[in-house]
Amino acid sequence: EKIEKGGFPHFMLKEIFEQVNSIYDTIRGRVNAEASEIYLGGISEIIPKMVNAHRIIIIGCGTSWHAGTVGEYIFEEFTRIPVEVEYASEFRYRNPIVDANDIVIAISQSGETADTLAAIKYAKAHGATVIGICNVVGSSIARETDAGVYTHAGPEIGVASTKAFTAQISVLVMMALQIGHRKGTLSDELYKKYIQELYNLPDKVKAILEKNDKIKEIAAIYKDSTNAIYLGRGCQFPVALEGALKLKEISYIHAEGYPAAEMKHGPIALIDENMPVFAIATNDNYYDKIVSNIKEIQSRKGHVIALVNDNDTQVKKLAEHVIEIPETLEYLSPLLNVIPLQLISYHIAVMRGCNVDMPRNLAKSVTVE
Ligand code: G6P
Repeated sequence: EKIEKGGFPHFMLKEIFEQVNSIYDTIRGRVNAEASEIYLGGISEIIPKMVNAHRIIIIGCGTSWHAGTVGEYIFEEFTRIPVEVEYASEFRYRNPIVDANDIVIAISQSGETADTLAAIKYAKAHGATVIGICNVVGSSIARETDAGVYTHAGPEIGVASTKAFTAQISVLVMMALQIGHRKGTLSDELYKKYIQELYNLPDKVKAILEKNDKIKEIAAIYKDSTNAIYLGRGCQFPVALEGALKLKEISYIHAEGYPAAEMKHGPIALIDENMPVFAIATNDNYYDKIVSNIKEIQSRKGHVIALVNDNDTQVKKLAEHVIEIPETLEYLSPLLNVIPLQLISYHIAVMRGCNVDMPRNLAKSVTVE
């Protein structure tokens, strides 16, 4: 087992660090930066159907559902196709409206999650075309779907999903870029820019991982918290959800992810001098709004730990702690922003003496209801 962990104390930390390669492995051979081409062999035959789709439904559970929610923002922006994201467990039981005109994308690391598998069978029985995004080759979901794209994250052992999440988003980005470009809803210029930037990501992931010691110091300050709030807007909102999920899964600290503007409709009541708030404040259209949210938290004595870009000016002056993230394109930023949140949770859990790789009551793959 020591050898399998490759010198890391836990699988989770090893898998967080593997994201330098796993994102690259997922795009390699599929994105040709020189020719500005994307080729996803597993779905090449149904690309025309996807281009003409009136609706896409994304289903998954846990972290895979969060990746799907990031995918909703990306797909709608690039392809202008309406997207619905649903928990597989809800979808399968609520008599959903689904027919032969629908494209369903099922996301699952293990490819064995019972609810996702049942939801796929339901969608297929109602005529929908179902595409899988799975990590495990030959898994039940990979076999049950009509077509699919594998994430090439490699085996994920830690129960809390990390590198599978970023690989799933990488696949969704490639799909959305390809469809948007074919449809003409994504400009040639932006399409090419995204393709180039995909190849810059591994170095940027590396730059974040180099901040591990600083992130550990922040973790030490907040390790005894009983609650935490994570805020993000736009496609950072699901990243906030994922950050909160990571913390509760492995450290057993109660945490909630919220779209930052919703804070005033509830969570702001919880903010006092004992509440750490992780705010995703990297550069995008929402930056100014997040700045005012941070001020609201501070006037109530909450502690702000902010993710900012290297060139940030305002938040660096306001927040108690900042973690600097290299700048990237808006719809690729979830791939970077989630990494410090994974590391924070990891360090907090280790400091609290928790079993990070096998948290209590959780299973890597939920094959029963
Ligand atoms: C379990 C795991 C999570 C995972 C979820 C969905 O709850 O502990 O890490 O996100 O199942 O699993 P899947 O294999 O379908 O992605």
